[in-house]
Amino acid sequence: MTNWQEIDKKYYMQTIVRVPVTLVRGEGARVWDDRGKEYLDFVGGLAVNCLGHCHPVIVDALNEQARTLMQTSLWYYTIPMLRLAELLVQNSCMDRVFICNSGLEANEGAIKLARRYGALKLNGAYEIITTNDSFHGRSLALTAASGQVKMHTPYQPLPAGFINVENNNIEVLKSATTEKTCAIMLEPLQAEGGVNVTADNYLQKVRDWCDQKGILLILDEVQTGIGRLGTLFGYQLYGVEPDIITLAKGLGGGIPIGALLAKEKAAVFTLGDHNATFGGNPVTSATAYATLKYVLENDIVGNAGRVGQYFIEKLNGMRNKYPFITDVRGRGLLLAIEFDSDIAQDVLIGCLENGLLVNRLKPNTLRFVPPLIIGNSEVDKALAILDKTLSTI
Ligand SMILES: Cc1ncc(COP(=O)(O)O)c(C=O)c1O
Repeated sequence: MTNWQEIDKKYYMQTIVRVPVTLVRGEGARVWDDRGKEYLDFVGGLAVNCLGHCHPVIVDALNEQARTLMQTSLWYYTIPMLRLAELLVQNSCMDRVFICNSGLEANEGAIKLARRYGALKLNGAYEIITTNDSFHGRSLALTAASGQVKMHTPYQPLPAGFINVENNNIEVLKSATTEKTCAIMLEPLQAEGGVNVTADNYLQKVRDWCDQKGILLILDEVQTGIGRLGTLFGYQLYGVEPDIITLAKGLGGGIPIGALLAKEKAAVFTLGDHNATFGGNPVTSATAYATLKYVLENDIVGNAGRVGQYFIEKLNGMRNKYPFITDVRGRGLLLAIEFDSDIAQDVLIGCLENGLLVNRLKPNTLRFVPPLIIGNSEVDKALAILDKTLSTI
């Protein structure tokens, strides 16, 4: 039997501490490794596979479009990307869409758009304020935008124009705003940075501040968008309308796609300002259209909210049995548990052995981002495995 993990060590750039399992097949919320062992997948392609693995709606759309037209470039009108753009606008508070290939690319687009806005409407303002512990992507600009020092250190010097401030603190955000500021960029709920739930009213206060200063509010919904928090978009959870949002992960249900959406007032790109070879690709757009349509027509968002509520209540219940669980947090099906010591990797390995995939977010924190189609029975199975694992830690 081929040892794929040896091949990884020999040929692949070693940038990630991988979980020691080689996955070969998936269906719904289950995956199988190269030895045929089955796992319940509560990582879901890192908050991507909203409809689970290989959902027939996704597979069919992908196959059909692959047989019809695969790639043209944005120099031509193609129907899938226009249908997707229309569906996104009809179901959000946004007016215009640019379709790209990843979260990083969507966020780069958002930053460029905000800088164009600053150049055209705010006397050349270019700075973007972001928050500590945020994560926006791994390009150099987004490394600077992400408020995590450990990301900054290896890549100095980083592009200028990003100010990281304390999260959930409107006063520091206000004092960081100057005549150079063109936008504030936030995640509705910080995901990679720890599943840090945003304080009540904070986003409303930021919205009011942006209105007062005439600057843009960008919400990075790469992880929170498409139902993850139990609302179609994270901004709906907080009752605040941003000027720009970015999407990726759940949008394509498993294929690589991203989108930049803006209100008309902020959509200041003009001809020649932005492009991407694979932008609006027919195969990824058709697949994302089918995914989003299914999400909308089958109450997948409501399911994420209900099952997420059941899950978080049960996780909270485990705190009595395992006092070393010091926190349970999140919204919808973006949840985390924190321990009083750095045991997350041991718990992850224990869960793996017992047939459950979970994600280690920090040395003391695990994250759960299962497909949005799961029911309470999958949650019960996952909790039984977690319980079994924690009882041996
Ligand atoms: C909030 C947020 N923004 C941006 C990104 C980057 O997306 P991608 O990995 O598709 O470039 C991520 C990825 O985890 C994310 O969670």
